[in-house]
Amino acid sequence: MNFTDELSKKTQTAERWLKRLSPNGEGYHKTIFEVVNYSLEAGGKRIRPVLALGVCEMLGGREEDVMPLACAVEFIHTSSLIHDDLPCMDDDDLRRGKPTSHIRFGEALALLGGDALLFYAFETIANAGLPADTALEAVKILASASGISGMVGGQVIDIKGADSYDELISLYKMKTGALLEASVKLGVLAAGNTDPKVRDALDAYAANLGIAFQIKDDILDVEGEEKVIGKKTGRDAAIGKKNFVNSLGIDGARLASVEYANNAKNALQMFGDKSKFLVSLADYLIFRNK
Ligand code: IPE
Ligand code: IPE
Ligand code: MG
Ligand code: MG
Ligand code: MG
Repeated sequence: MNFTDELSKKTQTAERWLKRLSPNGEGYHKTIFEVVNYSLEAGGKRIRPVLALGVCEMLGGREEDVMPLACAVEFIHTSSLIHDDLPCMDDDDLRRGKPTSHIRFGEALALLGGDALLFYAFETIANAGLPADTALEAVKILASASGISGMVGGQVIDIKGADSYDELISLYKMKTGALLEASVKLGVLAAGNTDPKVRDALDAYAANLGIAFQIKDDILDVEGEEKVIGKKTGRDAAIGKKNFVNSLGIDGARLASVEYANNAKNALQMFGDKSKFLVSLADYLIFRNK
């Protein structure tokens, strides 16, 4: 199968599982289901679940073992987007091609929708029917990637603004890289692989991919088409946010994204042909138009 077909097949798998595992219900509080599903169903590239599935499959694991974990990452990611768009954060009004959650439902419900998805991610892991030690490990991986030393910590540096190149890299590792790294780690966990060499190689792949991915996000903020990326362009400049492009110039940013993607690909050498999908994914992510 060529890369495009494989990506589309894995994305469809992610969509199917998200539909199956997304929160649903009735009751006096039923608005919350509408709020969370509004953001989940708006789409998105589903890169994190695809990555988890790709890693798990490469290591010989099964779809049904990895997909609840992969969906849990997508729930956290979607929650982070809802909060990232709030007026007190990036103040964005378009996300995944639709008005942002707070524009559609108001700030209070957007805040609660983001919270709901955070907790639901861990509920999903707990209910996945995994052996207790695997579930505990999955919770550890996802909680640390999402929280103080991961995505949240990165958002904190983002608000302050990085003062050096090294700080910018740390920020990208945390706000974006951490959840991509968690996706990869969960893929390894679901496949039941405990080889430290495998883990180190895939950690290096994910860490470099995360930085490359966020640099490309910054490039798309300048060069992307609103209709294609599904969010407003020029936002980082508009809110005076320091990013890779305004710190290093567009050519510097482009060069850095290629460099980090190459590091990511090189980290996969030990897997030979089996890593074809993950190698192509790295290229796809830095040359994507959305
Ligand atoms: C956007 O993530 C926010 C970043 C961490 C760069 P994605 O580009 O993966 O957004 P969706 O999920 O496709 O909407
Ligand atoms: C987002 O970074 C990182 C998150 C943790 C959500 P950005 O603020 O650049 O993401 P977009 O461009 O709004 O998607
Ligand atoms: Mg932001
Ligand atoms: Mg933003
Ligand atoms: Mg951005």
